[in-house]
Amino acid sequence: MSRLVILSNRVPQTTRGAQAGGLAVALAEAARLGSLWIGWSGRIGTGTELAVRAERGVSYAVFDLTETEHHGYYTGFSNNTLYPLLLFRLGLMRFRAEEFAAYEAVNRRFATAALPLLRADDLLWVHDYQLMLAPGALREAGARQRIGFFFHTPFPPPAIFTVVPRARTLLVGVCGADVIGFQTASDRDGFLACAASLLDATVDDEGSFTHAARRVRTLVCPVGIDADGFARTAREAAQHLPAQRLRQSLHGAALLFGADRLDHAKGLPHRVDAFDILLRQHPEHRRAVSFLQVAAPSREEVAEYRRLRREMDERVGELNGRHGEPDWIPLRYITRATPRATVAGFHRLARVGVVTPLRDGFGLGASEFVAAQDPLDPGVLVLSRFAGSAATLDAALLVNPFDAEAIAEALHRALTMPAEERLARHATLLGHVRSQSAAGYATHFLDALAGSAAPAREMAHV
Ligand code: F6P
Repeated sequence: MSRLVILSNRVPQTTRGAQAGGLAVALAEAARLGSLWIGWSGRIGTGTELAVRAERGVSYAVFDLTETEHHGYYTGFSNNTLYPLLLFRLGLMRFRAEEFAAYEAVNRRFATAALPLLRADDLLWVHDYQLMLAPGALREAGARQRIGFFFHTPFPPPAIFTVVPRARTLLVGVCGADVIGFQTASDRDGFLACAASLLDATVDDEGSFTHAARRVRTLVCPVGIDADGFARTAREAAQHLPAQRLRQSLHGAALLFGADRLDHAKGLPHRVDAFDILLRQHPEHRRAVSFLQVAAPSREEVAEYRRLRREMDERVGELNGRHGEPDWIPLRYITRATPRATVAGFHRLARVGVVTPLRDGFGLGASEFVAAQDPLDPGVLVLSRFAGSAATLDAALLVNPFDAEAIAEALHRALTMPAEERLARHATLLGHVRSQSAAGYATHFLDALAGSAAPAREMAHV
């Protein structure tokens, strides 16, 4: 079997502490014995050396970024330009040519770091928007291996994507890959429409096209979790101190629970508004419910994330001031990264799981909530229709995350749902979560990659 080589911005267990993102978690479960994983160390430094370590059968090769690289590539083009663009948030997007240059250079750095480590029959799998130019850079540096690329974010249609200067260059970079994977059919459709319009690609019925004399296949392949493993973790964690203390502190109140990165795409202010509306319009829930929102700090280098943090501090304070009682705090809010097992235990206690991003590639929190439930007395999932997971998890209460009134009504419906309906919805959801495993995700993608035609010896000039 070919060796798997993963390239992603972040690798699991960097020195930055608890992971607060879906990609590293999803892939950590998918990486197989013998894999090599190349990425940023999470440190700022001046050394150019690769540090190699092995853990549980996977080798990690990581390198530091300089302050300038980090600023231009990560804070700048990745998170001030591409991320808002791909999440349909044009109002938050800004473009600076020098940041794009840093992004190009760091993508090339990934390629040149990887190249000497590669074996002829390796399967390379490049991940996410931070590395859109890496497949092209690998080809230019002479890589002949099969290369796959996966978008963990959504992919917008041309009317949005073409707003970014260098849109064509980005597409050409990704098209250095043989297989490009997406979370949903609509993300793939958006990408293919961009390829048709910017690269003059003629797309066949299977979503493949020829670019620069190479066949590029596209694939819809949603990520997944190890549902039984997560259920076990949740069951055990529910007996541990953090969950026990939470349970005792509720004094029988129903728990609404959300766990997200503190990110503008997660719809957190809208969620607070929705809870405010719920308490006003359905006063019977006062004192009978408590909302716990864990919001792990994320990308604090980026001004928009710092602004969001201030906004949330303010809104949470306002809500608790307006509705709270000396012995009842309606909204509990934690802005610290919380271990995944502890979160699993909190999911298990929750009557309602609140996953309402304005847009999300997949939204693994939805699968985790479902897997963590007691199947004999499950909670109800309230899910954004703009999360990739909504394509399959449509037995959840689907909401428009921009519509706080509609979210409030869904929360009310979830809190008052008869047991029979809860059980039926949960059984359907669990069936989907079980069938979308982390291992299945990797196998599906890598089988397609292994079966793709070997790249031509020379990459045609583009
Ligand atoms: O899927 C979105 C994503 O950007 C992943 O690429 C990333 O691993 C995760 O969110 C966390 O982001 P960051 O690495 O910027 O902390």
